[in-house]
Amino acid sequence: MSRMTHDDLTAISLFSGGGIGDLGLRQAGVETLLMNEIVPERALMASANFPDSLVVAQDIYHVIDQIKSEAIRLLNGRELFMILATPPCQGMSANGAGKMLSNYRKGLRPRLDPRNQLILPALSLVKDLRPKWFVIENVTSMRNTLIEYNGELRRIIDVVREFLCDEYEGESYDVQFADYGIPQRRKRLITIYTRDSEVKAWLRASGKTLLPTPSHSSNTEPNRLPWVTLREAIGHFPPLDARSLETATDPEDPLHTVPILDERKYWWVEHTPEGETAFSNQCVAPGCGFHSNARHGTSRVDGVNQSLKDTPIYCEKCGSLLPRPSTIDADGSIRLMSGYTSSYKRMRWDEPSSTLTQNFMYACSDNKIHPSENRVLSISEALSIQTISEYHLVVPMKPSAKKIPLGLLKDVIGESIPPRFVEILARHLIDIHNQDMKQNHSYLHQGSLFDVVV
Ligand SMILES: C[S@@+](CC[C@H](N)C(=O)[O-])C[C@H]1O[C@@H](n2cnc3c(N)ncnc32)[C@H](O)[C@@H]1O
Repeated sequence: MSRMTHDDLTAISLFSGGGIGDLGLRQAGVETLLMNEIVPERALMASANFPDSLVVAQDIYHVIDQIKSEAIRLLNGRELFMILATPPCQGMSANGAGKMLSNYRKGLRPRLDPRNQLILPALSLVKDLRPKWFVIENVTSMRNTLIEYNGELRRIIDVVREFLCDEYEGESYDVQFADYGIPQRRKRLITIYTRDSEVKAWLRASGKTLLPTPSHSSNTEPNRLPWVTLREAIGHFPPLDARSLETATDPEDPLHTVPILDERKYWWVEHTPEGETAFSNQCVAPGCGFHSNARHGTSRVDGVNQSLKDTPIYCEKCGSLLPRPSTIDADGSIRLMSGYTSSYKRMRWDEPSSTLTQNFMYACSDNKIHPSENRVLSISEALSIQTISEYHLVVPMKPSAKKIPLGLLKDVIGESIPPRFVEILARHLIDIHNQDMKQNHSYLHQGSLFDVVV
């Protein structure tokens, strides 16, 4: 296969967010020529990080022709190396795909999320721009998510295959990012297609996958390192406490800050042991301390897991209120808050983080409480867990703004693809071209680089 040179390594990214995934491409030597993102603040962030890229800040449906013509102009006769598409995942749901299909065959109209159709303009760009590689990242439930295509209800991954089958070959892989040294359990579906005939021939002959070999594992698999833990990822951050403004902010790092918890929430959180949910907290009344109150749990109702509604909130021995999430009604009565067993749950030091989402700063969200301190994770910690801190990230600020846009940062972090995975994948695909199939790469990065540009 022909060796890739710097000039060959070009990319277009679609649904680019703040350009976080593209940081990984850049580190692997791939230049993102053009990005597309609908949310203006995110597009601004992408521009700030990639001043030499063209960022088209509009709905992909409205600018598809512009993306095509600009990409052709920017390529200036070169072949496009990669299209990276990371469409929104909020509408993806495999729930009831089978039932939906059978109802549809009976003539019933399905309720489909229009966001899932966004794969179609991406496919049309692949058809026209003919990149060597097409990579899609999404949640694993994309595997069974249905969309309307040519008047029929179809699985997205079947549509992708059918759309590309003339020229491309590829596969969708379930990937656990923790297996690549990312200190976070984050499962995603990575779909990789290539049109390069030599790669296709190599693929058939070698029987290999297009995925890089995982470097880490949850158990002691030979030749793999153990998963990177939260302790290794964030154990060095100065302590914070969500009780007051003074203790919730690190004066040395404006991004190492957490929201304050009100008195009741703080009480639930401070009594939650590592790896447990506050919904199972035990009695803290002086002189009682009963430890065998019924724990929170789930039961199956109509085939669906539902959290228990009758978990006690008063100690079964002394009758005191337990530090469990509860609400106070207008008449002053207290009742159990509804919540899953993963809600108000503390993470464990010696495991990777739980999956970061846009809600990572809400204590009530899934498994989001710091392993030993009474608070959620800070933005700085989330940047480390998502491996963004290993790259140079620019956060643009409007001239009138006085504060760093923490909300924007929280959203782009929660929605991003860890740049380290993108870098590992891009390096691997380049290696395939260069016939340089080393199995054990180590892609090391130093320090946390962070700029605020006013
Ligand atoms: C999962 S995020 C992608 C994050 C990105 N890969 C990163 O690493 O930062 C999906 C992005 O698609 C954008 N988006 C949603 N609908 C869009 C549309 N119609 N046109 C363009 N972008 C869209 C969202 O605003 C969101 O930022």
